[in-house]
Amino acid sequence: MLRSFFMRKTLQQDKKFTLISLKTGDLNKKQILSICKLKNLYWSWTIPKQFEWYKKTVKKTDINNMLLIEKKLVGYTLLRKRKAFENSKSFIYYYFDSFILHKKFRNKGLGKILILFNNKVLNKLKPHSFLTCSKKTVPFYLKYNWKILPKNKFKIMDHKPAWFNSMTSINGMTYNLDKKIKKKIFYYFN
Ligand SMILES: CC(C)(COP(=O)(O)OP(=O)(O)OC[C@H]1O[C@@H](n2cnc3c(N)ncnc32)[C@H](O)[C@@H]1OP(=O)(O)O)[C@@H](O)C(=O)NCCC(=O)NCCS
Repeated sequence: MLRSFFMRKTLQQDKKFTLISLKTGDLNKKQILSICKLKNLYWSWTIPKQFEWYKKTVKKTDINNMLLIEKKLVGYTLLRKRKAFENSKSFIYYYFDSFILHKKFRNKGLGKILILFNNKVLNKLKPHSFLTCSKKTVPFYLKYNWKILPKNKFKIMDHKPAWFNSMTSINGMTYNLDKKIKKKIFYYFN
Protein backbone atom coordinates (compact mmCIF):
# COMPACT_ATOMS: atom_id res chain seq x y z
CA MET A 1 0.00 0.00 0.00
CA LEU A 2 1.05 3.56 -0.54
CA ARG A 3 2.23 5.54 2.40
CA SER A 4 3.50 9.05 1.94
CA PHE A 5 4.47 12.04 3.95
CA PHE A 6 4.40 15.70 3.00
CA MET A 7 4.58 19.19 4.44
CA ARG A 8 2.73 22.21 3.16
CA LYS A 9 3.56 25.78 3.89
CA THR A 10 0.00 26.96 3.43
CA LEU A 11 -1.18 24.98 6.45
CA GLN A 12 -1.39 26.95 9.68
CA GLN A 13 1.83 26.83 11.69
CA ASP A 14 3.39 24.56 9.06
CA LYS A 15 1.51 21.59 10.40
CA LYS A 16 2.74 18.24 9.12
CA PHE A 17 0.34 15.87 7.51
CA THR A 18 0.46 12.21 6.65
CA LEU A 19 -1.36 10.23 3.98
CA ILE A 20 -1.96 6.57 4.69
CA SER A 21 -3.59 3.84 2.62
CA LEU A 22 -4.56 0.67 4.47
CA LYS A 23 -6.72 -2.34 3.83
CA THR A 24 -9.50 -2.76 6.38
CA GLY A 25 -7.88 -5.95 7.65
CA ASP A 26 -4.89 -3.86 8.76
CA LEU A 27 -6.89 -1.33 10.78
CA ASN A 28 -7.35 -1.53 14.53
CA LYS A 29 -10.57 -0.75 16.41
CA LYS A 30 -9.35 2.71 17.43
CA GLN A 31 -8.72 3.66 13.82
CA ILE A 32 -12.14 2.38 12.76
CA LEU A 33 -13.74 4.41 15.53
CA SER A 34 -11.99 7.58 14.41
CA ILE A 35 -13.25 6.95 10.86
CA CYS A 36 -16.80 6.56 12.24
CA LYS A 37 -16.48 9.78 14.22
CA LEU A 38 -15.22 11.76 11.24
CA LYS A 39 -17.93 10.41 8.95
CA ASN A 40 -20.59 11.16 11.51
CA LEU A 41 -19.75 14.87 11.40
CA TYR A 42 -21.18 15.01 7.87
CA TRP A 43 -23.40 11.95 7.39
CA SER A 44 -24.93 12.19 10.81
CA TRP A 45 -26.39 8.98 12.14
CA THR A 46 -24.87 8.06 15.51
CA ILE A 47 -21.40 6.70 16.23
CA PRO A 48 -22.73 3.20 17.12
CA LYS A 49 -24.72 3.16 13.84
CA GLN A 50 -21.66 4.25 11.88
CA PHE A 51 -19.67 1.47 13.55
CA GLU A 52 -22.37 -1.09 12.82
CA TRP A 53 -22.50 0.04 9.17
CA TYR A 54 -18.73 -0.20 8.89
CA LYS A 55 -18.59 -3.70 10.38
CA LYS A 56 -21.44 -4.90 8.15
CA THR A 57 -20.46 -3.23 4.88
CA VAL A 58 -16.73 -2.77 4.68
CA LYS A 59 -14.71 -5.77 3.56
CA LYS A 60 -11.21 -6.77 4.64
CA THR A 61 -9.86 -6.03 1.16
CA ASP A 62 -11.45 -2.56 0.91
CA ILE A 63 -8.99 0.30 1.04
CA ASN A 64 -9.08 3.11 3.59
CA ASN A 65 -7.26 6.27 2.51
CA MET A 66 -6.60 8.61 5.41
CA LEU A 67 -5.21 12.10 5.89
CA LEU A 68 -3.86 12.80 9.37
CA ILE A 69 -2.65 16.04 10.92
CA GLU A 70 -0.63 15.55 14.04
CA LYS A 71 -2.02 12.02 14.40
CA LYS A 72 -5.64 13.24 14.15
CA LEU A 73 -7.76 11.86 11.32
CA VAL A 74 -9.05 14.85 9.31
CA GLY A 75 -9.68 13.34 5.88
CA TYR A 76 -10.96 9.98 4.69
CA THR A 77 -12.02 7.95 1.66
CA LEU A 78 -13.10 4.34 1.33
CA LEU A 79 -12.39 2.41 -1.86
CA ARG A 80 -14.73 -0.57 -1.94
CA LYS A 81 -13.54 -3.40 -4.18
CA ARG A 82 -16.72 -4.56 -5.84
CA LYS A 83 -18.23 -6.19 -8.94
CA ALA A 84 -19.88 -4.58 -11.93
CA PHE A 85 -21.36 -6.05 -15.09
CA GLU A 86 -21.31 -4.93 -18.69
CA ASN A 87 -22.88 -7.08 -21.37
CA SER A 88 -23.37 -9.81 -18.72
CA LYS A 89 -19.59 -9.90 -18.17
CA SER A 90 -18.45 -9.22 -14.63
CA PHE A 91 -15.39 -7.20 -13.68
CA ILE A 92 -13.86 -5.60 -10.61
CA TYR A 93 -14.12 -1.89 -9.95
CA TYR A 94 -13.58 0.32 -6.89
CA TYR A 95 -16.56 2.14 -5.49
CA PHE A 96 -15.23 5.48 -4.25
CA ASP A 97 -17.12 6.16 -1.03
CA SER A 98 -17.17 8.45 2.02
CA PHE A 99 -14.85 11.17 0.69
CA ILE A 100 -14.69 13.68 3.52
CA LEU A 101 -12.60 16.37 5.13
CA HIS A 102 -13.20 17.60 8.65
CA LYS A 103 -15.06 20.94 8.45
CA LYS A 104 -12.30 22.81 10.29
CA PHE A 105 -9.78 21.74 7.66
CA ARG A 106 -11.72 22.53 4.48
CA ASN A 107 -10.83 25.21 1.92
CA LYS A 108 -7.10 24.86 2.63
CA GLY A 109 -6.20 22.64 -0.30
CA LEU A 110 -6.41 19.40 1.70
CA GLY A 111 -9.37 18.11 -0.32
CA LYS A 112 -7.17 18.43 -3.40
CA ILE A 113 -4.33 16.57 -1.67
CA LEU A 114 -6.66 13.74 -0.62
CA ILE A 115 -8.31 13.32 -4.02
CA LEU A 116 -4.90 13.28 -5.73
CA PHE A 117 -3.74 10.66 -3.21
CA ASN A 118 -6.83 8.58 -4.01
CA ASN A 119 -6.06 8.92 -7.72
CA LYS A 120 -2.48 7.78 -7.11
CA VAL A 121 -3.68 4.71 -5.20
CA LEU A 122 -6.22 3.97 -7.95
CA ASN A 123 -3.55 4.28 -10.65
CA LYS A 124 -1.64 1.46 -8.94
CA LEU A 125 -4.75 -0.69 -8.56
CA LYS A 126 -5.72 -0.55 -12.26
CA PRO A 127 -9.52 -1.30 -12.20
CA HIS A 128 -11.59 1.81 -12.77
CA SER A 129 -13.34 3.65 -9.97
CA PHE A 130 -16.93 4.88 -9.79
CA LEU A 131 -18.54 7.40 -7.44
CA THR A 132 -21.90 9.03 -6.99
CA CYS A 133 -22.30 12.66 -5.99
CA SER A 134 -24.66 15.59 -6.04
CA LYS A 135 -24.64 18.12 -8.89
CA LYS A 136 -22.76 20.68 -6.82
CA THR A 137 -19.79 18.38 -6.23
CA VAL A 138 -19.34 17.37 -9.90
CA PRO A 139 -17.04 20.39 -10.70
CA PHE A 140 -14.69 19.38 -7.86
CA TYR A 141 -14.12 15.89 -9.26
CA LEU A 142 -13.89 17.16 -12.85
CA LYS A 143 -10.93 19.29 -11.76
CA TYR A 144 -9.07 16.15 -10.74
CA ASN A 145 -9.48 13.98 -13.83
CA TRP A 146 -12.74 12.27 -12.93
CA LYS A 147 -15.24 12.03 -15.78
CA ILE A 148 -19.01 12.18 -15.88
CA LEU A 149 -20.65 8.85 -16.73
CA PRO A 150 -23.92 9.68 -18.53
CA LYS A 151 -27.00 8.66 -16.56
CA ASN A 152 -28.09 6.22 -19.27
CA LYS A 153 -24.75 4.41 -19.02
CA PHE A 154 -25.02 3.12 -15.46
CA LYS A 155 -27.39 1.53 -13.01
CA ILE A 156 -26.87 0.91 -9.30
CA MET A 157 -28.28 -2.52 -8.61
CA ASP A 158 -28.37 -3.01 -4.87
CA HIS A 159 -28.47 0.33 -3.17
CA LYS A 160 -30.87 3.21 -2.67
CA PRO A 161 -28.82 6.19 -1.51
CA ALA A 162 -30.37 7.84 1.53
CA TRP A 163 -28.73 11.19 0.75
CA PHE A 164 -30.32 11.83 -2.66
CA ASN A 165 -33.91 12.90 -3.35
CA SER A 166 -34.31 10.43 -6.18
CA MET A 167 -32.23 8.09 -8.32
CA THR A 168 -32.27 10.69 -11.14
CA SER A 169 -30.48 13.27 -8.97
CA ILE A 170 -27.49 10.92 -8.65
CA ASN A 171 -24.50 11.86 -10.74
CA GLY A 172 -22.10 9.08 -11.66
CA MET A 173 -18.41 9.75 -12.24
CA THR A 174 -15.50 7.52 -13.12
CA TYR A 175 -11.73 7.49 -12.88
CA ASN A 176 -9.48 5.40 -15.15
CA LEU A 177 -12.38 4.09 -17.21
CA ASP A 178 -10.45 4.22 -20.43
CA LYS A 179 -12.61 2.33 -22.85
CA LYS A 180 -15.66 3.75 -24.55
CA ILE A 181 -18.81 2.54 -22.84
CA LYS A 182 -21.26 1.17 -25.37
CA LYS A 183 -23.65 -0.61 -23.03
CA LYS A 184 -24.86 0.22 -19.57
CA ILE A 185 -22.66 -0.70 -16.59
CA PHE A 186 -24.49 -2.40 -13.72
CA TYR A 187 -22.75 -1.55 -10.47
CA TYR A 188 -23.02 -3.52 -7.24
CA PHE A 189 -22.10 -1.70 -4.03
CA ASN A 190 -22.36 -4.66 -1.66
C1 LIG B 1 -15.56 18.09 -0.99
C2 LIG B 1 -14.48 18.39 0.04
C3 LIG B 1 -13.73 17.10 0.36
C4 LIG B 1 -13.49 19.41 -0.56
O1 LIG B 1 -12.44 19.63 0.38
P1 LIG B 1 -11.72 21.04 0.56
O2 LIG B 1 -10.58 20.86 1.48
O3 LIG B 1 -12.70 22.06 0.94
O4 LIG B 1 -11.17 21.32 -0.92
P2 LIG B 1 -9.86 22.13 -1.30
O5 LIG B 1 -9.68 23.30 -0.39
O6 LIG B 1 -8.71 21.21 -1.43
O7 LIG B 1 -10.24 22.63 -2.75
C5 LIG B 1 -9.51 22.29 -3.90
C6 LIG B 1 -10.14 23.00 -5.05
O8 LIG B 1 -11.47 22.52 -5.27
C7 LIG B 1 -12.41 23.58 -5.21
N1 LIG B 1 -13.63 23.06 -4.57
C8 LIG B 1 -13.81 22.72 -3.28
N2 LIG B 1 -15.07 22.24 -3.09
C9 LIG B 1 -15.67 22.31 -4.31
C10 LIG B 1 -16.97 21.98 -4.79
N3 LIG B 1 -17.92 21.48 -4.00
N4 LIG B 1 -17.23 22.19 -6.10
C11 LIG B 1 -16.28 22.68 -6.93
N5 LIG B 1 -15.02 22.99 -6.54
C12 LIG B 1 -14.75 22.82 -5.25
C13 LIG B 1 -11.73 24.66 -4.40
O9 LIG B 1 -12.24 25.94 -4.70
C14 LIG B 1 -10.29 24.50 -4.83
O10 LIG B 1 -10.09 25.11 -6.09
P3 LIG B 1 -8.79 26.03 -6.39
O11 LIG B 1 -7.61 25.11 -6.14
O12 LIG B 1 -8.96 26.40 -7.82
O13 LIG B 1 -8.88 27.14 -5.43
C15 LIG B 1 -15.06 19.00 1.35
O14 LIG B 1 -15.78 20.15 1.04
C16 LIG B 1 -15.97 18.05 2.13
O15 LIG B 1 -15.50 17.23 2.93
N6 LIG B 1 -17.30 18.16 1.95
C17 LIG B 1 -18.27 17.38 2.71
C18 LIG B 1 -18.31 15.93 2.27
C19 LIG B 1 -18.64 15.80 0.79
O16 LIG B 1 -19.42 16.54 0.22
N7 LIG B 1 -18.00 14.79 0.17
C20 LIG B 1 -18.21 14.46 -1.21
C21 LIG B 1 -19.19 13.33 -1.29
S1 LIG B 1 -19.46 12.89 -3.00
